[in-house]
Amino acid sequence: MKSTIYDYIVIGSGIAGLSAALRLSKFGKTVMISKNSLKSGSTHYAQGGIAVALDKSDAPSLHYQDTLEAGAGLCDSEVVKVLVEEGLERVKELIDIGAEFDKKGSQFDFGQEGAHHRRRILHAKDETGKEIERALGTRLLKEPNITFLQNTMVVNLCIKNEKAVGCVVLKGSKYERLSAKATIIATGGCGQVFSHSTNPSGTTGDGIALAYDAGCLIQDMEFIQFHPTTLYTGDKKPISIFLISEAVRGEGAVLRNIKGNRFMKNYHDLRELAPRDIVSRAIVKECIKSGSNHVYLDLTQISGDLSVKFPNIYRRCLIAKIDLTKDFVPVSPAAHFLMGGIKVNEWGKSSIEGLYSTGESACLGIHGANRLASNSLLDGLVFGYRCGDYVRKNENDLNENWDVGMVFNGVNSEKLAEFQVLKYQIKEMMWKCGGIVRNQQLMQEGLDFLKSKEDCLNTEYSHIIYYELKNIFCVSKLILDFGLKRRESRGGHFREDFPETDNLNWKIHQSTGKKMTPFLN
Ligand code: FAD
Ligand code: SIN
Repeated sequence: MKSTIYDYIVIGSGIAGLSAALRLSKFGKTVMISKNSLKSGSTHYAQGGIAVALDKSDAPSLHYQDTLEAGAGLCDSEVVKVLVEEGLERVKELIDIGAEFDKKGSQFDFGQEGAHHRRRILHAKDETGKEIERALGTRLLKEPNITFLQNTMVVNLCIKNEKAVGCVVLKGSKYERLSAKATIIATGGCGQVFSHSTNPSGTTGDGIALAYDAGCLIQDMEFIQFHPTTLYTGDKKPISIFLISEAVRGEGAVLRNIKGNRFMKNYHDLRELAPRDIVSRAIVKECIKSGSNHVYLDLTQISGDLSVKFPNIYRRCLIAKIDLTKDFVPVSPAAHFLMGGIKVNEWGKSSIEGLYSTGESACLGIHGANRLASNSLLDGLVFGYRCGDYVRKNENDLNENWDVGMVFNGVNSEKLAEFQVLKYQIKEMMWKCGGIVRNQQLMQEGLDFLKSKEDCLNTEYSHIIYYELKNIFCVSKLILDFGLKRRESRGGHFREDFPETDNLNWKIHQSTGKKMTPFLN
């Protein structure tokens, strides 16, 4: 097996991976790895913007308050403080390296989104993630110390003497061994474990499954955020469902049931701008009442030219023969964001020495049980930087004296088709059993289904489809296990058999880990 030594390994090229790699590449040989290209993570698709208290009339303390309120009692207040305070400096640096956000005259044109009590969202039209990724990526790829491996999947984390020493990647038909002093997982979330998701196709929870297999502690996996408004496409189920940004509701778009009546006033004082979990469940209730699979989003009353304000959404809807200026847009909720993940501290340090995580794959309690809109890009920016900073100041010794017994095992088309079917079945099952409304019976049914399929993955095949399926399997099990144990409803975890929030018994985080997998010396 080919073997390469770096100082630092960063797995993932979204905002968190880019921020960490940018910090680290100033100090040592850094490799950033992406399963596909620079553009393959959720970051590329982020629409609404990045929340930051930059406006003169705003303050980090107000942003902090809104974050805590949305988080439904489970935010770690210390890390939220770091997020909103250090966010100011990181966003200014982002602007300094060339990220361009929309302005009105000489002032930033702050947008509004759900559960923010004031306008504080910096955006680049409705394609903010692309702009941030462009700015960070352009800057990073100029660094002499950086190597960017694309179309390369990390399939194994290597732990020796209880320390992370590197990873194994699959590149085409070959395994390669990468050693480093520190390994940072920035592989994003796991939206693709559900049949309905806004996340791009590779968002299969890889980093979380790899870390779990390596013996790392995993936290808060029951908390999945379902975005209320994605373009409803009827029977056609695209892999990744197009998002209609919350920013349009911030500009005055309203929700209507299929009879054309507004309904959010019956569910929350903030109406269309209530926290996402509340809006998503309100939509589910309206759908059940009317026997429909969707509601409508009405943008017709937004002032100004929609094709200029939201060019990406405007274009995509036109392709679906929907004219935003005249037509209501059929929408329904879809899995969007994972609040849980690899348990880390405020520097991204996991429970395994030398192994770190940042961005959506990490869980440090910033988002509690429900993330505030546009706080995820800020999370990746702030904590990616902090993780990079900590790693270079607290390095392990390099250990290149390890190996793993990985033998290439090709897979035929029949087996691949079998894996595709199983992947489809798990995603459908997760939508039904671990979706917006859960209960004991459904989650148990989901776990029983997974148990019945366990043997299908016993043989390891050297193919991305096999590894993604294995990861989806692992993460689905974690979500259902965590969900079954939490006997209450809170934020992104709603149980119809325990519909109330139980602060007395459940204002706590859950975490789990398993024994280290043995590696050959
Ligand atoms: P990602 O950007 O998802 O990047 C993950 C990276 O890991 C990718 O490069 C991928 O190729 C790589 N990877 C994964 N597995 C492997 C593996 N096994 N081996 C090698 N590489 C691997 N948040 C906001 O704050 N504001 C918004 O406006 C906003 N809009 C959104 C719109 C959409 C449609 C979506 C899907 C999300 C949105 N979010 C938004 C959420 C936010 O975009 C994500 O939470 C954030 O971008 C995650 O960044 P990340 O760096 O952690 O991961
Ligand atoms: C959106 O634009 O609605 C998504 C914003 C987010 O996920 O924070």
